Amino acid sequence: MSALRLEGKVALITGAAGGIGEAAARLFVKHGAFVVLADVKDELGDQVAASIGPDRCSYKHCDVTNEKQVEETVVYTLDKYGTLDIVYSNAGILGPLDSVLALDMKALEKTIDVNVCGGVAMIKHSGRAMVARNIHGSIICTVSAGGTRAGLGPGGYTASKHALLGVVRSASQELGMYGIRVNCVSPLGVATPMTCTIPGINLFRLDPDFIEKHMSSISNLKGMVLKAKDIAEAALFLASDESACINGHNLVVDGGFPDSTDTFPMSIMKLAMEFMRWSISKVTLASILSKFVPRDIYSSFRQNAESMIVGSLNESKACN
Ligand SMILES: NC(=O)c1ccc[n+]([C@@H]2O[C@H](COP(=O)([O-])OP(=O)(O)OC[C@H]3O[C@@H](n4cnc5c(N)ncnc54)[C@H](O)[C@@H]3O)[C@@H](O)[C@H]2O)c1
Repeated sequence: MSALRLEGKVALITGAAGGIGEAAARLFVKHGAFVVLADVKDELGDQVAASIGPDRCSYKHCDVTNEKQVEETVVYTLDKYGTLDIVYSNAGILGPLDSVLALDMKALEKTIDVNVCGGVAMIKHSGRAMVARNIHGSIICTVSAGGTRAGLGPGGYTASKHALLGVVRSASQELGMYGIRVNCVSPLGVATPMTCTIPGINLFRLDPDFIEKHMSSISNLKGMVLKAKDIAEAALFLASDESACINGHNLVVDGGFPDSTDTFPMSIMKLAMEFMRWSISKVTLASILSKFVPRDIYSSFRQNAESMIVGSLNESKACN
């Protein structure tokens, strides 16, 4: 078997301007694939494509909620690289954090639109292209550990990921007859722009290190620190011929999550409290540092830590 697990294959990845999608794009190219990166963040997408190398990949604007753009992106990939073997439908949003009692229906619709309808549009148009060209391709979606259980995220997000899992299972049944596989990866929390920038609760300065420590602490597998690259590795397996007989599978990447744990929004409250503790330890560290480092460096470090604590305290109050 070639050490390059996707040698000469052509892949289209959505949500590839950052986070898990970017990690997958880098890994797929490393394994010999040509990759089209699709996203709505054009500047970032162009930067990622340029840093990977224009000989192996290119960026295309694609809002997955716009079916026409999805179709055009599939056509773009076929025109540019001549075929389409792998589609990694990964774009997603967290959506509103509100309880079901206060859920903004428009915000819920947007979440469903991106996370579910976007995935359906990708499967529909890439599936059509594969069927028409007799390509025995691999389609992968990013679902979530919250795709099979409640309490790991907000209600709207949880609903959307449950639905997306249904889409994957259903499409795998239909497309299997054409030799096309449809599977998904389901991560637990990974420090990416999505989890480090939680909308509406002012935790936007969350340090990736903090998220990783929290996620490691709630996983069964001690010593595990889940990274975007680990999810990309799971997607690589499903994209490659090594998974040739796997169809309709939900590959959960969570280090073995315990059955009982705090449910949302308790987990967010707990997270905020842990964040405060972590921030306070930084301030303590800052006061020790003040004795040894130049005054201006110390001041900016301290200001940063203090503003994080204030933000976190405000949020805790808001949650209460
Ligand atoms: N990070 C986690 O902890 C985690 C856990 C479980 C599942 N997931 C899922 O993994 C996927 C990737 O998330 P991530 O953590 O890398 O977050 P991220 O925010 O870094 O990446 C998501 C990407 O999707 C793009 N996107 C959003 N709406 C889009 C649209 N309408 N059309 C095209 N692109 C759009 C964003 O611009 C962004 O680049 C998502 O589906 C997410 O739900 C993430």
